[in-house]
This record gives sequence, structure tokens and C-alpha cells, in this order.
Amino acid sequence: MYDANLRAQKELVLCEDGTNTLYSKEFNEPYHSTKDGALHESLEKHVKPSLSLKENQDKLTILDICFGLGYNTFATLYHIKKYKLKTKVHILSPEFDEELVRSLDTFDFPSEFENIKHIIKAISQDLFYKDEQFKIEILLGDARTSIAHIKEKIDIVYQDAFSPAHNPLLWTYEWFKDVRTLCKEDAILTTYSTAAAIRLGLYENGFYIFVHRAEMMRYSTVASLEMVEELEYIDMELKKIRNTEARSMKDEDYLGNMHS
Ligand SMILES: C[S@@+](CC[C@H](N)C(=O)[O-])C[C@H]1O[C@@H](n2cnc3c(N)ncnc32)[C@H](O)[C@@H]1O
Repeated sequence: MYDANLRAQKELVLCEDGTNTLYSKEFNEPYHSTKDGALHESLEKHVKPSLSLKENQDKLTILDICFGLGYNTFATLYHIKKYKLKTKVHILSPEFDEELVRSLDTFDFPSEFENIKHIIKAISQDLFYKDEQFKIEILLGDARTSIAHIKEKIDIVYQDAFSPAHNPLLWTYEWFKDVRTLCKEDAILTTYSTAAAIRLGLYENGFYIFVHRAEMMRYSTVASLEMVEELEYIDMELKKIRNTEARSMKDEDYLGNMHS
């Protein structure tokens, strides 16, 4: 059940890459892997693999699930500016913790975000930002309902909810089905989760599954609606034979339970 007091309870945590994250008492876990580091994790698990796979596109629409401290969105802008990419980017990001987003103006972000401070400020004030290259929209409310209002077709999904154990309804077969409906035919999805249940939920919705490896980082998952030759492919049919117990997560097992 929703508890505003619990949602407000967060603690600042310093990650091993020297960047700050928060610990959520509501979900009983940190917003980022403190070992991998908030900025390092955003760049290595989400931004770099997806932007390199989509490097030839001059326009990208990204679904950032969920906004949280905004690291994935801000690291995308940081990376694009750093490498002087011309790509126009529209980011749509669901988030039900309005108070958190409105507090980001005073959050102690890494120096890498120094030249996007004005963007962080605009987002924390208006939940929206737009210039010639970037458009960012926070979709306030429960992601399970808010994504149904998205009209744009998505190129990249950053699947970065709290863990499947603590935030199950953003990892089910039905959730991925709704996400897939929004996707372009060659869309990709990045996630830190490597669990068989999560990969199966994506696979059952038509995604090919790949391992993503980066330096000084636990491996992660890239899923794509089309085959990508340069990635390390996982044969999910073989996985199913080897692990007959594995099942995707289903809404019916979690509805009416704790968080959405
Ligand atoms: C792991 S954090 C996201 C971290 C974020 N990507 C970042 O880089 O800072 C998960 C976020 O999902 C939000 N959240 C959880 N369930 C949600 C839901 N059903 N709808 C919208 N937001 C949700 C939480 O409030 C939290 O901010």
C-alpha cells in the first residue's frame, strides 16, 4: 500500500565510482548498484551499448524506466555532448515520486553533469525540458498506466526499475508486452537484470536476448527486436531445455501485492 512517509525516506549513499545515489526505504534497496556506481552503471549498462547500436540514427526516442535520480537520462545527454554527437533525442520517463524529481536541483551530482545543470534545474522545476537537440518529459504517475499515453514509437528502452523482487510489476510478461507495443520494429532494451525469468518475459514478447559485457562491471542484458550480429546471442530455447523450472513473471502473481 502507498505510504507517502515511507516514500520520502531516503539516505544518501556514496558509490564505488565516487558518484552519489540514494537508498530507498520504501523499496529497501539503493537506486543504483553501489559497487558498479551510479554514473558508471548508467553509462556502461544503458547509454553506451544503446547509443553505439543506434549510432547511425539522427533522431532517437528513448523510454527511460523509471526516472529516479535521472542518471540514465543525464548520462545520455552527457555522452552525446562529450562526443559532440548530432543525434536529436526525445526522452520519455515515467516516475511516480514527484517529490524526488523536484528535489534533484539540489542533489550532489558528479562534475560530469556540470554543463547540463540548467537542464537538471528545468526538469526539477517543470518536469520538462526542450532545446534544439533534446526533449525530456517526465510522465508523472504509475508507469503501468502512464506509458499507455505515449504516442511516439520508441527506439531504445532503459529498463531500470528497482529489482524484480521489490518492484515486480515492472518486470512481468504483461509489462514487457505493453512496452513492446510502443517499440519500433528494431528497438532495443537495456537492463541490468540477467535473471532467467526476466529474459524469458522479454523473449516471450519477441525480443532476441544478448549478454552485454563492459569493463569493471557485472555483465548485463541487451534485448533487441531484431537480430544483432555483433552482440553475444543467448539461445533462449536451449536455456528453457536446460532450466525447465524457469518461468517469466506474471501480473496475476503480484497484483494486489505491495508496490506496482
Ligand atoms: C532504480 S530507481 C531508477 C533509477 C534511475 N534510472 C536513475 O538512473 O536514477 C527506480 C525508480 O522507479 C520508480 N518507480 C517504481 N515503481 C514505479 C511505478 N510503478 N511507476 C512509476 N515509477 C516507479 C521509483 O520511484 C524509482 O525512482
